[in-house]
Amino acid sequence: MKVLQQVASAEIAAIANQHGCEPVVPFVPYKWPLALDLLKRQLEILFGSDHAFEQLTPYFDVAATCCIHLFGQTGYFTVDPENIEAILSTKFEDYGLGSRRLAFMPLLGEGIFTQDGPAWKRSRELIRHQFARVQRQNLHVFAPHVIDLVSGIAEAAIDGQVDIKPLIFEYTLNTTTMLLFGEPHSSMAKEERDAVRENFDYAARGCGIRIRLSELGWLYNPTKFRKSCKAVRDWATFFAAKAIKYKDDHGEKAAAEKYAFIIELWKEMQDFELVRDQLLHVLVAGRDSTASLLCWTIFHLVRNRDVLERLQTEIASVPRDGDITREQIARLPFLRCCLNETLRLYPTLPMNIRFTNKATILPRGGGPNGTSPVLLPKGSGIVWSIYHLHRVESIYGPDSRIYRPQRWESGELMRKARPGAGYVDFNGGPRLCLGKDFALTEASYAIIRIIQAYPNLRIAPGIPDEPVGAERQKYTIGLAPMDGVHVVLA
Ligand code: HEM
Repeated sequence: MKVLQQVASAEIAAIANQHGCEPVVPFVPYKWPLALDLLKRQLEILFGSDHAFEQLTPYFDVAATCCIHLFGQTGYFTVDPENIEAILSTKFEDYGLGSRRLAFMPLLGEGIFTQDGPAWKRSRELIRHQFARVQRQNLHVFAPHVIDLVSGIAEAAIDGQVDIKPLIFEYTLNTTTMLLFGEPHSSMAKEERDAVRENFDYAARGCGIRIRLSELGWLYNPTKFRKSCKAVRDWATFFAAKAIKYKDDHGEKAAAEKYAFIIELWKEMQDFELVRDQLLHVLVAGRDSTASLLCWTIFHLVRNRDVLERLQTEIASVPRDGDITREQIARLPFLRCCLNETLRLYPTLPMNIRFTNKATILPRGGGPNGTSPVLLPKGSGIVWSIYHLHRVESIYGPDSRIYRPQRWESGELMRKARPGAGYVDFNGGPRLCLGKDFALTEASYAIIRIIQAYPNLRIAPGIPDEPVGAERQKYTIGLAPMDGVHVVLA
């Protein structure tokens, strides 16, 4: 065994030599043995701060790629587009999800979001088919939920002022449950809906804590968290069971029309629990992410009058009656610039981590200039911060910390940033978000109708208008504004 290990090490050393690999020199400074002060500080920031990602900036400012030594182990931080592209695409097979599986297991069980290797490939193929089908459909599916959202905003307003954040979260939950369960969440009684939402939020928050604890995620498992996870799973079971019963009563063809997502998964998997779990995975991926995108977009539209006015002018071309079409949305390039800008400053997944499943080469970060390749041994953890990458001045300019959708207009920035490397709004490579088209359409539809219905939308009096980075942020599964999005309607 020892001899085999020595041979393997010699082979790896030879590969490293051949590629001119050098070790990463910069490291996050620490004071206490085993760098326990870093762990303490990270936990303080991640659990005790409303500005967590801002406060992590010093760690990502050390260098484009640096080491962090914790418990005598070496991990890596990077905001280098070349390295991110390697992790997501060119060396995709060399990395796995690591502790994410542990974090989400109590809520989600087995499915696309927590799988690697052949199991992930199979899940991805199944779910990809569903999204390809959805992409061929017209947008009528969004219309009733947007109507509810727009009227709900007026109903919730007191003296013309409203926090639209909870209504937006309700909207994305409705559209995503409609997509997956064949029925919107709003078809349930109000008390049941409120209970599910509370349980969902609590369970999502718990998974967020477990993710931050990484390999120690199992330490967070209180009774209330377990109960919330169970309640969410029971809720998904209810819908999945309803669809399967419908199939038994009315036949597969009729059921596939009403409950397409569930029946198609069932045909392939033939296992009720696996179908239910896959539904939950897509639900979790879809709900908070699009809600956060919508919240931050409105948050900035009411703070940037010039941007809002340009958007209003562009959107004036969309008829107010009937369903909005994909073609109409495609003719709104400035709206797309606004969404790009929101996802740049507030990526739904602000940081991500992978672990090497074999020795692999990182293209950059080694040597005194940080330009040489680096050999990462098997089992190395590497964190990349999308939050900080998307604010790098060498890509996004000296005003990178300002909300300015115009920067995307010429298309030059997209070419420079390179999606999947310097701009990773929806991830990149083989794990590119499957709901990208759905999310952008869902968000565009809602923004068009909100802006049309409330032409005098503006920030509510007394609500702070801080610069980007000073806003209070809340991170559960997505990165949302902490204080709600308070607006005046007229
Ligand atoms: C603005 C909205 C959204 C953003 C920014 C976003 C972003 C992302 C990102 C960054 C990932 C990669 C996670 C990783 O592998 O580490 C991902 C994966 C995924 N997303 Fe989205 N997402 C959004 C909306 C949605 C929606 C609405 C759905 C479905 C209804 C969805 C379904 C998925 C699925 C199924 C995956 C897993 C893909 C895989 O692992 O192969 N997403 N998304």
